[in-house]
This record gives sequence, C-alpha cells and structure tokens, in this order.
Amino acid sequence: MAEVKTFTLTNDETGQSIKLPIRESVQGPAAIDVSSLYKEAGVFTYDPGFMSTASCQSKITYIQGEEGLLEYRGYPIEQLAVNGDFLETAYLLLYGELPKKDELAEFDHDITHHTMLNETLKNFFNGFHYNAHPMAIMVGVVGSLSAFYHDSLDINDPQQREIAAHRLIAKMPSIAAASYRHNIGAPIVYPRHSLSYCANLLHMMYATPCEQYEPDPIAEKALNLLFILHADHEQNASTSTVRLAGSSLANPFACIAAGIASLWGPAHGGANEAVLDMLAEIGDVSQIDKYIAKAKDKDDSFRLMGFGHRVYKKYDPRANIIRDVCHQVLEKLADTNNPLFELAQRLEEIALSDEYFIERKLYPNVDFYSGIIYRALGIPNNMFTVMFAIARTVGWVAHWMEMMSDPRQKIGRPRQVYKGHARREYIPISQRD
Ligand code: SDX
Repeated sequence: MAEVKTFTLTNDETGQSIKLPIRESVQGPAAIDVSSLYKEAGVFTYDPGFMSTASCQSKITYIQGEEGLLEYRGYPIEQLAVNGDFLETAYLLLYGELPKKDELAEFDHDITHHTMLNETLKNFFNGFHYNAHPMAIMVGVVGSLSAFYHDSLDINDPQQREIAAHRLIAKMPSIAAASYRHNIGAPIVYPRHSLSYCANLLHMMYATPCEQYEPDPIAEKALNLLFILHADHEQNASTSTVRLAGSSLANPFACIAAGIASLWGPAHGGANEAVLDMLAEIGDVSQIDKYIAKAKDKDDSFRLMGFGHRVYKKYDPRANIIRDVCHQVLEKLADTNNPLFELAQRLEEIALSDEYFIERKLYPNVDFYSGIIYRALGIPNNMFTVMFAIARTVGWVAHWMEMMSDPRQKIGRPRQVYKGHARREYIPISQRD
C-alpha cells in the first residue's frame, strides 16, 4: 500500500506536534486532511470564505486559476464549447463519460419528455404579483416541486435520485419561461417535443397563440454555447449551498431551490444582470474613469461587476469565449456597433491597464459579456440569472448525485471561533437599571 504522506502541525507554545495525512489530487493542489485535528489537538481550523479549504473530493470539474483552465470530467471547456451540445455536456457531467449516440438519444428523449409541468403547478405562478423578479418565482416554484413529484423523493434510491435529476434539468426551462410569461402577462406556452432543449426554451418564452413561431437558430446556438459554459464550476457558492443542503438528506428539489437562492446574489450569478445595470449607469465612455475610481475607492461600495474571481487570477476562459461569441452574435444580428458592447470593451481595456486591477489580478469573469448576448437575443435583464440557473442546474444535480452516492457522506456542520460574552447570570428585569 502506498505510503501516506503527512503534514506535521506544531503548536509553538506547547511544542505539541501532530501528523495529519495529505489527500493527494489527480491535478491541482493536494489537501491536508484536518478531520482529526479537533479530536487530537482540541483546535479548529479557521478559514472564512473558504479561501484555502477543500470541502469535498470530486471528479466532476477541475479549475486551475493561475492558468485560467476549466475542464469538465477532464475535457477542456474550449473543446466542449466548440463541438458540444448542452445535453451532451449534461450527460458528461452527470455520468462522467461522453455519451455514445444511443446513450445521448435516450438521455435527450428522457429529458424532453419531462419538460411538461404538472398542470396545477401553473396556479402557483398566478400567486405572484406580475412584476415579481423571475428568480423569486424560480426559487418558490422549484422548491415546491417536491409537493408534486412524490415518486422521486427517496434520496436513498439511486433510481429515484436519477429521475429527480432528470426532472430538474428538464423542467427548469419550462419554469423559467413560465416566470417570464407571467412577468409580461402572456399565457404559459407548452413545450414542443420536436425542438431541442434551447429551441424549446425560446419557443416557451416567445411563441404566441396567434401565429406560428420558429426559434431563431442564431439564438438557439448562442444559448447552447452559453449553457455549456455555465453548466458547472467546481465548489462555487451555489454548488456548495446545494451540497450543504443535500448533506442533511433534504429532497433534491429543496436543495436546488437553495442553490438558485445562492446564485441570485450579485457577487455570484446575479452579476450578469448587475453588469448591464452598471453599464447603463456608466452610460458613456466619458464616464468610465469616474467609475473605475469608484471601484478602487475603499470607502465606496461600488465594484466593477463582472470583474474579479475567487479562483481565476487570469482571464476567465469562459469570458474569453463569450466575448468572441458576443461579437459574432452582434454581427449576425446586424448590431455591430452595439453601444453596450463597445462600452464594455472600452471598460475592459481601461481596467486591464490600471495598476489596481493588474496588482489584484482582476479580469473579466463569465458574467461580464454574457448579459450583452442575452440582451441582443431580446432576453430581458431580469432573466439573465435565470438563464445561468437553467445551465447550472446540471452542475448542481451532478454534485448532488456525486455526494449522495458516497456512502461516507455526512451532514455538513462547520464550527466557529466564539467571540461573544463569556458565561454570565440572568438579571431579572426589575433589577436592570
Ligand atoms: C461567478 O466561484 C465561482 O466559480 C463563481 C462563478 C461560477 O461559475 O460559479 O465563476 C460565477 O460568481 C463569477 C463572479 C461574479 N461576480 C462579480 O462579477 C461581482 C464582482 N466581483 C467581486 O465581487 C469579487 O471579485 C468576487 C466576489 C467575484 C471575488 O471576491 P473575492 O475572491 O472574495 O475577492 P476579494 O473581495 O477579497 O477582493 C480582493 C481584492 C479586494 O481589494 P483589497 O481589499 O485587496 O484592496 O480585489 C478587490 C477587493 O476590493 N476586488 C474588486 C473587485 N473584485 C475584487 N475591486 C473592484 N471591483 C471588483 N469587481
């Protein structure tokens, strides 16, 4: 048996040393296994924001931040983006291998035939005010799915876990489209089995009962690529939320609803909508310097949305691809001098030549250009993070399935460093002066 490498920790005050095993990785940093630290040394590790903490072992996605690398099950994102189909990528993330033709056909058929929503679920949408943010609707409706699909709630049954995973992937576009239709006061449109995953989403968003609607192939192709790029990203905030929720053995619909809630934050998936709001606020190239100064000002809460990343300290490989696709989509839509795109490119140029951003290795991330494409496809700003959630549902369910199939999985329960009052006695109100 290979010798286990260890890391020795020494308490400089007491001289106590303990040896901790090292968990080797296939690629990327190894980890010191500190699970016995408290038992052996009576201390915790402290790592708010998890800057240096591996929360689990996973085989799904690998990110190398210094080089700007992203691989799904070992395949570089650039190759999947050029060759891929979103459901093929979904299969890869769920099952670990690229599907053969018949496997993809069966998976595609299964997902397609789960796209309908339970008819009574439609009443749920009417419970929201017309101007409810679609992400608020998504969180509520996805969380309610366990009330409708009782035959895929037994998390100990691998078959039921798989059905729940397929239902979630299949129904997210239907729920997203229904949220949008509720926002614009239009009737919910049923999916069509003859359409691809992305074309069906466009159909359910934009078809009208009054005339034949054919999804725009440019939009279908752009969505397919954007969904591949957004499908998974290792242990980001929303995926970690799904894993923590799942660790309590909560049902998969509740776990994905928790992931949607976490993704909505502007520091995470909500950034794509925040980028467009920021570009609208900047308004003009002449204002860029003012906003760069605000972003650098410690006393100003303003941050350059779509910039920076906890892991990437080079250009986010997805942002590279999206920027190029943005250009192509705008050209095809004859929108070549799109002021937003021009402003974004100029903002990027100025920021990347500024010492503050260079020193902190702040580059455009996946959210910087994606909103400009969504906007060019006619998708409203408040639907941008919904698009992100549709794609990331594949990553969320892949990580949930990986965790739930591990017999050693335990409930996630971090500890703390207590900084409150030491023990003190209760004082009756009559004695409180
Ligand atoms: C996503 O984790 C993932 O993988 C996420 C994601 C995925 O696919 O799941 O990639 C998707 O969420 C992308 C990120 C989208 N968010 C944004 O674009 C919001 C703007 N970005 C920042 O809020 C920030 O960069 C984060 C949240 C993305 C990362 O924050 P970190 O890693 O905690 O970094 P930090 O806040 O400690 O910043 C380090 C320094 C600080 O300055 P100093 O205190 O060292 O002087 O960089 C500064 C920050 O003030 N900084 C920024 C900045 N981002 C960091 N300054 C101005 N503008 C910014 N955007």
